[in-house]
Amino acid sequence: MDDAFDWAPRDTDLAAAAQDDGDFFAIMAGKLLAPTTRIAVDFGCGSGGMAVAMKQHSDDRGYPARIVGLDTRPQAYADTQRTYPDVSFAQSSFEDPPDRIVSAIGGAADLIWVRGALHHAADEVEALNCLRQALRTGGTLAIAEGGTTVANLPEDLNIGDPGLQERLDEAVFARIHAQLGATHDQGYGWPVVIATAGLHYIRTHHVLFGTPQPLGGADMDYVLARFGRYVDWARTNLDSGDLRVWERLLDPDDHEWLGHRHDLYYVPTASVHLGERTA
Ligand SMILES: C[S@@+](CC[C@H](N)C(=O)[O-])C[C@H]1O[C@@H](n2cnc3c(N)ncnc32)[C@H](O)[C@@H]1O
Repeated sequence: MDDAFDWAPRDTDLAAAAQDDGDFFAIMAGKLLAPTTRIAVDFGCGSGGMAVAMKQHSDDRGYPARIVGLDTRPQAYADTQRTYPDVSFAQSSFEDPPDRIVSAIGGAADLIWVRGALHHAADEVEALNCLRQALRTGGTLAIAEGGTTVANLPEDLNIGDPGLQERLDEAVFARIHAQLGATHDQGYGWPVVIATAGLHYIRTHHVLFGTPQPLGGADMDYVLARFGRYVDWARTNLDSGDLRVWERLLDPDDHEWLGHRHDLYYVPTASVHLGERTA
């Protein structure tokens, strides 16, 4: 679907995010895969971070699972496909009918994982309905959308007012909200959406993961790039005082540049909602 997102410049970010979120993917692959898992899917996979984690986990444990990564944009997973030829990547979208999704997967799935992608579907409940039908009976759908926070800044930065990152998150949310439109206003949460799509045994895992302090190298680059993208993106939703502070924090020529600091961290929390196909 065309939801007005310009994905092309984001593919490098998606690859960096997949690397920084490697611990999260490894934790969840460990929780969700079992010796009986035959087909596990990372849907809306981007650069395929979870597909790779599931492949590594099943190989380490000697599970026979076939791992599939699906995305509407093949260019998002092209590099990973070259590096991990044993993961089956294919083009598919949330708007495809269930039989086309099953054929892209290569059979009914034991596990379908969706992270940070479902909110791009034209209709989230309809998309979950299709994904349910692409599961085998007893298969699990795992959704990690929204409700996720990332903390990077110490409480006292010595510049600006406390709560800078929270206010940036609010501005980004307001921008996403304006871009996606009111059809994506749920107001009742993913467990209800999953139940409405006909799944059962609904439960939620909360996961805390992160990168040790001090951040350096690629981890620091990723955090700075993420802030830069968010500030650019949500500029018009930010208070002018906060915007001035962010411009200093993100300017490598300013002594307040975040890249000089040793007290930044990368500590995300994520909620993963699970439901099962029972019939
Ligand atoms: C923010 S990225 C998340 C990537 C990955 N799941 C992760 O956790 O890093 C969202 C992904 O959803 C994909 N996407 C957007 N709309 C889609 C649709 N209608 N059907 C399938 N994938 C879609 C995009 O191409 C992009 O790769």
